[in-house]
Amino acid sequence: MMDENTNHLFIKACFGQPVERTPVWMMRQAGRYLPEYRQIRQKYNFTGMYKTPDVATEVTLQPVDILGVDAAILFSDILVVPEAMGMELHFIEEKGPQFPDPLRSEKQIRQLPAIHAESELGYVMQAIRNIRQELNNRVPLIGFSGAPWTLATYMIEGSGSRNYKYIKTLRFGNPALLHELLEKVTVTVIDYCKAQIENGVQAVQLFDSWAGMLDEEGFYEFALPYAQRIIKEIRKPGVPVIYFAKGAMAWLDKLSLSGADVLGLDWTIDPVRAVELIKNKTALQGNLDPTALYAPPAEIRAHVKKMLKGFNGAAGHVANLGHGILPDIPVDHARAFIDAVKEES
Ligand code: CP3
Repeated sequence: MMDENTNHLFIKACFGQPVERTPVWMMRQAGRYLPEYRQIRQKYNFTGMYKTPDVATEVTLQPVDILGVDAAILFSDILVVPEAMGMELHFIEEKGPQFPDPLRSEKQIRQLPAIHAESELGYVMQAIRNIRQELNNRVPLIGFSGAPWTLATYMIEGSGSRNYKYIKTLRFGNPALLHELLEKVTVTVIDYCKAQIENGVQAVQLFDSWAGMLDEEGFYEFALPYAQRIIKEIRKPGVPVIYFAKGAMAWLDKLSLSGADVLGLDWTIDPVRAVELIKNKTALQGNLDPTALYAPPAEIRAHVKKMLKGFNGAAGHVANLGHGILPDIPVDHARAFIDAVKEES
């Protein structure tokens, strides 16, 4: 399996090896912008979809079959980890995820159990095995987890938040307790990522979606060391790790300390500057603004050309958006993005 893995465009680009053209995939590529997704979604709620391995498999394959992306990403959510740690989770239509009983006391944090991902998240492992079988090595499968800072934010805030009042209160008022929580989450994430790799994922992306809510010093204390530890402990030859710290581009040069093979870029940084800052320390992934896909296909192509040119000189480049594709993007525009990368690189 390893030899086959190292032959994929996506894997080669992650390791900075020469490629015939730039590989491309999109964050949130299995999602509501696809009519085929919405059709299945009519029969299940989101939770029912990711907890049913056959459905997760079908939806994971959709963008591969429909758009011809160069990697599949496991259909699931970062919040399955806190859910498996015993926190009740609801996805509310039009509003997003919600934990009705967020962590607001020392006692709640102390009582959080350690989990064994292989069994508590068995439905994810089953989906991974099914997906690998269905993909039959056409493209590699990316697994993922939320990074500890981002997961802890959801666990404490209970939902998306305007000011991140509760976690910031801990960050500034009781950092020791916050570290205790981050430590517990880190142990779980390591176990979860290792289990995903054992069950067949061929790359892992760590999503630190709320990294940009921290000040720079806070990032070095509460986000980076935990990401570093995970990346070190899950490392396996031939399996690249991507670290996507959204909103952290102001200190991009420091993100290579994470030890990741690839740094995910949001759209706020110019590719030319990113290449200058990172030089050949890691490969780069990204970073077209997701709203650029509202433009007509001819404009999308022009933006892709400019992006690809900007990444010239990177140790490796995986084309992607700077965040997830939005639910109301026309499929033709998503296809224009994928095709433009394939044809212009
Ligand atoms: O990229 C993929 O296609 C793989 C699947 C995936 C989903 N969520 C599916 C999903 C991945 C990798 C995620 C990660 C995720 N989930 C993140 C990190 C990435 C990021 O966007 O910053 C975060 C913060 C979450 C939490 C989450 N899940 C939110 C805030 C929401 C609501 C927003 C929304 O788009 O509705 C979700 C729901 C969710 N996760 C959907 C999908 C396809 C929509 C479900 C639906 O209603 O059909």
